[in-house]
Amino acid sequence: MINIIPAILAKTSEEFEKLFRTVEPHVDRVHLDVCDGDFVPTKTISGYEELVKIETKVKFDVHLMVSRPEDQMYFWYKTKADRFLIHAETDRGHRNLIGQIHLNGRQVGLVLNPETRAEKIVEFLDDIDFVQFMTVNPGFYGSEFMESVIGKISEFHNQYPSMPIFVDGGVNPETARRLAAIGVTTFVVGSYVLDSENVGKAIEELRSISNNE
Ligand code: DX5
Ligand code: ZN
Repeated sequence: MINIIPAILAKTSEEFEKLFRTVEPHVDRVHLDVCDGDFVPTKTISGYEELVKIETKVKFDVHLMVSRPEDQMYFWYKTKADRFLIHAETDRGHRNLIGQIHLNGRQVGLVLNPETRAEKIVEFLDDIDFVQFMTVNPGFYGSEFMESVIGKISEFHNQYPSMPIFVDGGVNPETARRLAAIGVTTFVVGSYVLDSENVGKAIEELRSISNNE
């Protein structure tokens, strides 16, 4: 089963609300990009202030592109977000953080930047729910897909075939088709969906292409 999850990277609450309401009718889950201006150069909304207030049936994945995710989890547990994506590069006690997220009834995945080797997360694979591969440098919307990550994803899937794989960055129908063929199950998509004139049609197009593999 292939999943298409629209990504929202917003610098103001108004921008978040506008983008969210654009995709809301078409999906049951949204990926919220959170950037702290330190782990990545970009700075977005905190995200938890917006999610604590929002009324919707849609579920949220939270992609924490922040240097100290452990410092903000307290606020996230007050929201309805039920899956968290933590970067492998920020490790200051991932084992504790993963355990704590599970104790709070949420799922957690580890994220690898394009240049980070999969070996970095092997010790956590029995404890996490999914792995996300970045196919762009994190923090920016609309970057070009990095072909160089394909080999790493394919090798990982061959070694750990039961681990769900997400890909984030530069996904469009052409890259999605190739990624589905090497075992990717979940696609996080920003600009291809949000910059399109017909958001519902762009999501359907990705779903149908990916499912044909
Ligand atoms: C990148 C973010 C992505 C991004 C995807 O730093 O994690 O979720 O918004 O955007 P596109 O699909 O435009 O690369
Ligand atoms: Zn993301």
